[in-house]
Amino acid sequence: MKRILVTGGLGFIGSHTVVELQNEGFEVVIIDNLSNTTISVLDSITEITGIKPDFHQIDLRVKDDVKFFFDNNKVDGIIHFAAYKAVGESMGKPLEYYENNLGTLVYLLQEMRDRKLDNFIFSSSCTVYGQADELPITENAPVKAAESVYGNTKQIGEEIIRDASNAHNINTIALRYFNPVGAHPTVKIGELPLGVPQNLIPFITQTAAGIREQLSVFGDDYPTEDGTAVRDYIHVVDLAKAHIAALTRLINKKNKKAFEYFNIGTGTGSSVLEVINTFEKVNNLKLNYKIVDRREGDVVAAYADTTIANKELNWKTEKDLGEALESAWKWQQKQS
Ligand code: WQD
Repeated sequence: MKRILVTGGLGFIGSHTVVELQNEGFEVVIIDNLSNTTISVLDSITEITGIKPDFHQIDLRVKDDVKFFFDNNKVDGIIHFAAYKAVGESMGKPLEYYENNLGTLVYLLQEMRDRKLDNFIFSSSCTVYGQADELPITENAPVKAAESVYGNTKQIGEEIIRDASNAHNINTIALRYFNPVGAHPTVKIGELPLGVPQNLIPFITQTAAGIREQLSVFGDDYPTEDGTAVRDYIHVVDLAKAHIAALTRLINKKNKKAFEYFNIGTGTGSSVLEVINTFEKVNNLKLNYKIVDRREGDVVAAYADTTIANKELNWKTEKDLGEALESAWKWQQKQS
């Protein structure tokens, strides 16, 4: 049985990926420092699959602790989620973001190099494309100057991985996520935003739950069908399965280069108003929202061309926006 290390494995996407890894027969060991999640997620994962993952509360910024882990644990692959991810926050805390998102990445890759470990999956983001010139966005789209420190950590992270892969023959894949949304069908795991949600879906569900007074729609004067910005919202379970597909590609040595990257989205763009209307329809409720000014740094539209990921990973999305928004609402109701 292959043993896979999942860093950030108690987080939103990490926990859903752990479930899918266990469903596929992998043994999972999780490293998480619990800075952006709670230990109860470990029990929730165990309830879903009936298998309790091995868990180590380690801060990957502590190089000696990372070394100690690898001195005592053999792994056949690593899926690396652990990172800070708040775009706005990153602008005020650049050094914390570079230390946490990049310093830890270097430590992990150093261990892989020194111990001749292989198969590394990196959590990247469509944010590397900025506002793409052409839509849908393919992997050939140019990586643009990052508009946030967070986005820059993803860009630099990919470059660090590329160089380490080529120099030390470590096989790696970066998955460039579009917008992850939704919750597990069992409603036992989902998104746990701390504080005021920055992202659209948790703000919508908290507004519907009465935790937030009203949703502000950031701009309806964009050059889109209804004037609101367009994104590619992918169900978190579909996203989790893409990680299994990427890991399997590496384990079976089907990769064509030491470092590969794929766009992981649905291939369909949805506007903010379309998301609101779909949320109201599938959950049979009315949402309190108002249109306000654009948010600084937002792109007009971003949605994936998934042709290469579908083909090379033998993976495609199975759930639609309605299912994602229904699961997000069920998860919110369980929290309230
Ligand atoms: C989506 C749309 C907002 C909140 C972020 C990260 C990115 C990636 C995906 C990690 C935009 C609008 C939002 C609100 C709104 N994450 N909106 N009112 O900005 O596309 O991307 O998630 O890899 O790095 O930046 O997601 O959910 O913040 O916004 O109108 O209260 O919803 O303007 O058009 P975004 P988002």
